Amino acid sequence: MLKTIEREGNLIMYLRVLSYMKPYWWLVVFSVFSALIAVLFQGVSAWFLGSLPQALFSPNEIVLPPQAPELSVATINEWMKYQGDKFFSFSDFGHPLFAISLIIALAFTVKNIFLYINHVSIGMLNFSTARDMRNDLYRHILKLPTKFYDQNKSGSLVSLMVNDLNLINSTVSESLGSLLMEPLKLIGFIAMMLIINAQLTLVIFVVYPILIFIMAKIGKYVKDRSRKSLTSFDEMVSRITEVIGGVRAVKMFNMTAVENSKFAETSNRLRKNQFKQKLIGDTLSPFTETLAFYLILGLLLIGGSQIISGDGSFMPEDFTRFLVFLFSSYHPLKILGNVNAKIQAAAAAANRVFKVFDTPCEEINALQTSKIPNFKDEIAFKNVRFSYESAANSIVLDDLNFSVKKGETVALVGGSGAGKSTILDIIPRFYEINDGEILLDGKSISSFDLTAYRELFAIVSQETILFNVSIRENIAYGKIGSSQEEIIEAAKSANAFDFISKTENGFDTVIGERGVALSGGQRQRIAIARAILRNSQILILDEATSALDTESEQSVQDALSRLMRGKTTFVAAHRLSTIRSADKILVLEKGKITESGTHDELISKNGRYEQLYSIQFGKKEENG
Ligand SMILES: Nc1ncnc2c1ncn2[C@@H]1O[C@H](COP(=O)(O)OP(=O)(O)OP(=O)(O)O)[C@@H](O)[C@H]1O
Ligand SMILES: [Mg+2]
Repeated sequence: MLKTIEREGNLIMYLRVLSYMKPYWWLVVFSVFSALIAVLFQGVSAWFLGSLPQALFSPNEIVLPPQAPELSVATINEWMKYQGDKFFSFSDFGHPLFAISLIIALAFTVKNIFLYINHVSIGMLNFSTARDMRNDLYRHILKLPTKFYDQNKSGSLVSLMVNDLNLINSTVSESLGSLLMEPLKLIGFIAMMLIINAQLTLVIFVVYPILIFIMAKIGKYVKDRSRKSLTSFDEMVSRITEVIGGVRAVKMFNMTAVENSKFAETSNRLRKNQFKQKLIGDTLSPFTETLAFYLILGLLLIGGSQIISGDGSFMPEDFTRFLVFLFSSYHPLKILGNVNAKIQAAAAAANRVFKVFDTPCEEINALQTSKIPNFKDEIAFKNVRFSYESAANSIVLDDLNFSVKKGETVALVGGSGAGKSTILDIIPRFYEINDGEILLDGKSISSFDLTAYRELFAIVSQETILFNVSIRENIAYGKIGSSQEEIIEAAKSANAFDFISKTENGFDTVIGERGVALSGGQRQRIAIARAILRNSQILILDEATSALDTESEQSVQDALSRLMRGKTTFVAAHRLSTIRSADKILVLEKGKITESGTHDELISKNGRYEQLYSIQFGKKEENG
């Protein structure tokens, strides 16, 4: 599960997401521009809606004053009305009702055309930035050090890349439109209300801040709940990937019922968190709407009595218009409240995503050039210490000192958990050592460019790593741009050609997730073919402990010896033949080297190696 702490303010995170929109600035301009026009025409239609009652009920009373009112802050309402009336009295549409209807229809159409343009540009913005962010995150995740994967489950990362990113991008793009448009509308409508009747408008300056306060409070709660929902979602995806990956064990141990109830629990936790988030989030609209209704009702009373007892300066026409703008001004506020709730929910996701973005990458550019180091002489361990970050207290490798000459094979021998695989992992820098140095021809390996340095190695690991693509692609993974001949050659050397030819589609056979469609020995031989194709100078071999049957063991062994020919090899050895042919054997116990030498030297020493050897291989010797 991704653990998150509150690290950055919402605004900073919002700006960080916005920075992904830089390359699409023209879309932003487009959406702002179209939003402005849409708001303008919405205002126009609202204004003329206010002219409707008079046009309907007393069209003949539209009498133009002999002189146009002067344009000033105090008379702006009169001035605008005069301009409108002048327009209608001179128009050729006959009854003002038709002219007004025509203008409202036009204004509505234009408004909606620009609204559509606005939505399309925002949608394009959303999908483009979502793609860029997704690719960026993927690229970043692949550059993270191995220890990151020890601490974060693959299910969590899947949920992050799919669920969290989706939430962030849809929210930012949707909110961007509203954040640009709604405040403009709000300001515009309030300005119009002030023009029509400043006194009445003052009431909303009391009520709207209360509404905004409530919306902000609800938003905070939603953020909290959203964080919990995302965590539950992440837990659920992790469970699914884990259980499906280990489905054989689940069936074997008859654990389906247990797994079902565990899943139901996780699933229910998600439901609970999602529901609570919705429960509060959904109070927003009814609550604020009720409050707004009281406001409008109150204004109706005040405004109405102003007209009844008025001096004629506040006309029914003004009041209608005022109410239209009042209704219109509540709408942006409501939208902004909902947008705030959405942004808060997305902020919880952004927190999680940016935490991964801010995890430092494996250091890729080092002091040296990116040329592949020229390995000439030896690799040496000097006082190397290492412990895993997730278990920092237990020392896994303790003060290792040894060296391997170019072309030699060194076999690491020792009980399970002694640290053999760990040594093989720190040589290609999957983990960085805590103390001491590993030297390649006298230079610290941490001074090389990481990508170039790793070109020196080929790895055949304890658990074969294959992908769900064709056999050809799996082998070709060893070398970019390898030819068909090279691939066949490698398969032949790895004793894999025969069984590949017998599969339905030969080299084009797709081998299933992690190679499930192949036997253990076949999987290993494909991994060996891949390493042969890579033809690197140094070989890292973690022999599988699982026993293969004698025939495929022989066949894998043959392939390995061919692979090792002329290479410098580090091997965690479980097979007798590998150990015997090694130039040097290191006996490991709890991360320390307790003995080293050739097979014969160590046997004659009668120490730990002899002991291990007779336990592991005593029987085989007798049989053989
Ligand atoms: N990713 C990890 N995080 C934390 N501890 C680990 C990790 N990998 C291995 N360890 C611990 O480090 C120690 C050495 O493990 P390592 O895999 O190197 O043993 P090994 O000699 O290869 O054993 P085996 O012969 O069973 O493969 C073990 O105690 C193990 O629990
Ligand atoms: Mg191991």
